[in-house]
Amino acid sequence: MTKAKIGIIGGSGLYKMDALKDVREVEVDTPFGAPSDALIVGTLDGISVAFLPRHGRDHTLLPSELPFRANIYAMKQLGVEYLISASAVGSLKEEAKPLDMVVPDQFIDRTKNRVSTFFGDGIVAHVGFADPVCHQLAGVLADAIASLNLADVTLHRTGTYLCMEGPAFSTKAESNLYRSWGATVIGMTNLPEAKLAREAEIAYATLALVTDYDCWHPDHDNVTVDLVIANLQRNASNAQKVIQETVRRLSENPPISDAHSALKNAILTPMNKVSG
Ligand code: ADE
Repeated sequence: MTKAKIGIIGGSGLYKMDALKDVREVEVDTPFGAPSDALIVGTLDGISVAFLPRHGRDHTLLPSELPFRANIYAMKQLGVEYLISASAVGSLKEEAKPLDMVVPDQFIDRTKNRVSTFFGDGIVAHVGFADPVCHQLAGVLADAIASLNLADVTLHRTGTYLCMEGPAFSTKAESNLYRSWGATVIGMTNLPEAKLAREAEIAYATLALVTDYDCWHPDHDNVTVDLVIANLQRNASNAQKVIQETVRRLSENPPISDAHSALKNAILTPMNKVSG
């Protein structure tokens, strides 16, 4: 089977990666059904990577409809050890401007309708999630962004990503509540991915691409889909450059990640009681 150590999940506006060469579409079957789309396995500067458009190549899946478990399971099946998730986000802080890039180090969960674990059905496990993002991978990603000196893009090396259910955007009261909690950016998808990646012992980090000021900012328009897409189109090529540079650095110097041993001491059910 085709293998790739590095996986990329592309969010709204990033449905394919033009720099990918020798591409093959791989339909992966999982116990959790089909992933959002066929995985595109190809090479970036000669390095094998697996790419998945999170919402499907034609953007047909709502955040609440995403087959998160199938997506992460499929990445694991292809041999992915490092997963970079590129995602459009709204900004909850003045200093994180549209077009900026944030590499979050924390999450707040405001989802209501997602299955975010592979466990259950007779197997009980609790992985550590105090640090939900792989510190080592996030460092490589942030260094890659910094090295590119992208015009009009400020890098924020840390930040808290608030994951909401959607699909409607937030009310002003919610947006201000999340600001009072200290959240930096808001999106609808990354928290279930981060949890499942941790359970799958895959190092995970988010490349958060700021597209709007949500709806709290008195001097900026409230978020709309048009605003998100317009700003994403402005920085989609930057996002691809960042991914390419991150992949190059990862393959030169693959970091040892704590995530790679996340299940050590996490499983409570005795192995002789685990069936199948
Ligand atoms: N994705 C991009 N902008 C967003 C916002 N303001 N809220 C939730 N998800 C988003």
